[in-house]
Amino acid sequence: MQTLQVDLGERSYPIFIGEQLIDRGELLSRHIRGKQVAVVTNDTVAPLYIERLLHSLAGFSITPVVLPDGEGFKNWQTLQSIFDALLTSRLDRSATIIALGGGVIGDMAGFAAACYQRGVDFIQIPTTLLSQVDSSVGGKTGINHPLGKNMIGAFYQPQAVLIDTTTLATLPARELSAGLAEVIKYGLICDGPFLGWLESNIGKLRALDQAALTEAISRSCAAKARVVGADEREAGIRATLNLGHTFGHAIETHQGYGAWLHGEAVSAGTVMALEMSCQLGWLSVEDRNRAVRLLSRAGLPVVPPANMCAEDFLQHMAVDKKVLNGRLRLVLLKRLGEAVVTDDFPSEVLEATLNVNYEALTQELRT
Ligand code: NAD
Ligand code: GLY
Repeated sequence: MQTLQVDLGERSYPIFIGEQLIDRGELLSRHIRGKQVAVVTNDTVAPLYIERLLHSLAGFSITPVVLPDGEGFKNWQTLQSIFDALLTSRLDRSATIIALGGGVIGDMAGFAAACYQRGVDFIQIPTTLLSQVDSSVGGKTGINHPLGKNMIGAFYQPQAVLIDTTTLATLPARELSAGLAEVIKYGLICDGPFLGWLESNIGKLRALDQAALTEAISRSCAAKARVVGADEREAGIRATLNLGHTFGHAIETHQGYGAWLHGEAVSAGTVMALEMSCQLGWLSVEDRNRAVRLLSRAGLPVVPPANMCAEDFLQHMAVDKKVLNGRLRLVLLKRLGEAVVTDDFPSEVLEATLNVNYEALTQELRT
């Protein structure tokens, strides 16, 4: 097992990474203050892993909260049903909420923990690649609003993150690829050598090679922990973690939550950010193509949806959380391994980026 640390003063916490960690009750119990625990999960993950987790938590009083599965349920109504369960079981302020599932469960359970009785402890047990490398670390919690992704939420750090890499064995291949979008993101924004490693190991990752997965997850978590430790509330550098997300969130919102997976939308959005960086003269065409090829080899879409025009993008991007004083800020690349957050670009370049024929641009690069 590897242990990383998110350094945030008194809100610091460990990330445990290893095989079969769900069965290691002692890793959890040392982070649980009281006797009451709510396990928030969904109807896909519960049949796979809840029994093992309950066994590890023997001795605690457990309230299982099993939600319907899907991004479409990441909303007020589902959040209310979590509160209903917590109150019905009379959980008090010493209770701990454990999120068992992907990013949807982690974001909602974390937000419930931030709000319930003005804040109770919570622990993340992420079971998708995307949640293991990104959403479980850093304390962003929340729900979607019909007008915008993740628009309602709170920064609220967990007590611990427990990553059992063997849970990925049951994850559908499409979901694994979606997680790879966020892994590749770290290479693009802050770790050029990691991109080379990913190019050599993408086949192993897709084949669920445990050693390769552990390496990719720990390098990703280390990068995320570094960035969050430096900028917890996204006053600066943390925004670079949103490479491709402004375009991607527009895709997710426009297509209807759940139609495109988050990682898929991020992948197509990343291609748009790469292309814009290219048009600004920062990134070379060769480097853009190299990144597009890797995304495609990861099994990800590199072309935005055909039913979206430039106007659709602009409309959805106007409600992005990085909009400041009415100006859109974007994460772009100065070069592979170096991202910037900027509003300093001519609007014509953005328009040109939105009007590119991505089908043609990526034709030779897709696998
Ligand atoms: P998800 O939570 O919807 O999980 C994907 C699917 O896999 C679901 O059907 C889920 O039930 C299933 N699943 C989960 N674990 C499984 C397993 N081990 N075996 C089989 N099936 C399993 O999606 P996700 O990609 O994990 O997360 C996406 C969400 O995360 C989005 O809502 C996004 O906004 C959010 N997100 C948040 C942050 C953050 O910093 N908080 C960062 C990135 C993404
Ligand atoms: N996923 C972006 C962040 O955590 O800041």
